[in-house]
Amino acid sequence: MLRARLTVDPARPVGPVSRRLFGAFVEHMGRGVYGGIYEPGHPEADEDGFRRDVIDLVKEMGVTTVRYPGGNFVSGFRWEDSVGPRDHRPVRLNLAWHSTETNEVGLHEFASWLEKVGAELMLALNLGTRGTLEALDLLEYANVPSGTTLAEQRIRNGRRQPFDVRMWCLGNEMDGPWQLGQRSAEDYGKLAARTAKAMRQVDPGLELVACGSSGATMPTFGEWERAVLTHAYEDVDLISCHAYYEEKDGDLGSFLASATDMDHFIETVVATADHVKAVRKSPKTINISVDEWNVWYLSKVPADLARRIDDWPLAPAISEEPYTVADGVVVGSLLMSLIRHADRVTSASIAQLVNVIAPIAAEPQGPAWRKATFFPFATTSRLARGVALQVGIDGPGYDTAAYGEVPVIDAAATADAGGAALFLVNRSQTEEVEVSIDLAALGATTIEEALTLSDPDPHAANTADRPDRVGLRPNARAAVVEGTLRATLPPVSWTAVSLH
Ligand code: AHR
Repeated sequence: MLRARLTVDPARPVGPVSRRLFGAFVEHMGRGVYGGIYEPGHPEADEDGFRRDVIDLVKEMGVTTVRYPGGNFVSGFRWEDSVGPRDHRPVRLNLAWHSTETNEVGLHEFASWLEKVGAELMLALNLGTRGTLEALDLLEYANVPSGTTLAEQRIRNGRRQPFDVRMWCLGNEMDGPWQLGQRSAEDYGKLAARTAKAMRQVDPGLELVACGSSGATMPTFGEWERAVLTHAYEDVDLISCHAYYEEKDGDLGSFLASATDMDHFIETVVATADHVKAVRKSPKTINISVDEWNVWYLSKVPADLARRIDDWPLAPAISEEPYTVADGVVVGSLLMSLIRHADRVTSASIAQLVNVIAPIAAEPQGPAWRKATFFPFATTSRLARGVALQVGIDGPGYDTAAYGEVPVIDAAATADAGGAALFLVNRSQTEEVEVSIDLAALGATTIEEALTLSDPDPHAANTADRPDRVGLRPNARAAVVEGTLRATLPPVSWTAVSLH
């Protein structure tokens, strides 16, 4: 048995934990929308065609905001196609995901689904194949109460109250060669600044997110952020980070340490934004929107997806990841990375939500169920409250091929007036670890709950036939003894402890 001593002190706060850290992303991709959240004719479908069983799971997951409608999809999307009478809506090619888009679900339908799940809309604009004028039109349609042609059109389309969308993404992954309308950092930075300025003439209070790099491995990473913010610093509020991880070549040790990379990624973007702040002598601080993050077996996406030119299917199954316990542990760890950076990461979206790269599976005409990644997300969203606290870790390390030596234990902590929550990961593949934490500074005395995700087989997963094969179990080996919390963490595990 390995041992680690953790230090948590309310006198060392990181920053308030924004509820928006527990956002998700729904794209018109694969079976995310059609056959995911929406399946008219399904026994669970409500009067609008939305699956009640999926709505219940999204609520249980504690999703606070949803970024929509893409993703790569948005760069070919004409928002006008998706409003008005359904029988007049055009059917288009979804170039991003080589499929057919019926526009059966659009802005009105999605907003009504969000009301059912109780989450906020974060709307992405097409700055790939469209520009400032179309962005202004959508803003006017969505947010202006009445009296203009577009606002009145919205009202005629059934929505008297404006959607009042507060968060807007100025395009998606504009550095990516796969993106329709890919741009240079200079071109995109100027376009983002122009569009943001114009949108603020409608409403200065909007929260605007500029596209950061599509990932930390992009050749222009760092320089992209610097150049874009040099043009758009005073006009936007946040810059995006996108981060996907997968277990490659059976290297579970490196995969389990993915949060090390996420920490570095976030800190590098913060440093770059602050560099631009310093150069501009600006009093303003740019925050981070990690608006796509998850485990995604991207290397398994068929390379010929875009080459089947005669075949543009409706809602094909794409990237329906089985998600193992190890994937769940990594998702839990990535959430810890977000919490550790709560002072600067004020918005985040797990990508995605249903069927596609998703914690929730929905079988056509069948049940909906939770994948392994569902559990750490739902529990962190439920328990992480108040302020994130720094956590000191004195414990063993191990070597990884990808990141060198990393700590065996990963941890994050939050606290508010009512108590504290600790989130713990044991990355060892063979050893249990006993963690001990002196609770005196926290003033906590009692464990409210201690839940662990683990399995003797870290690659075990839930399936349609066995939807409860893996999940959270009470951790009976967590106790407070003489003011010290001691918890034994099994190998490859994620644990949450809430304290009163
Ligand atoms: O989430 C899937 C895709 O990943 C998104 O469409 C894109 O933005 C990213 O590359």
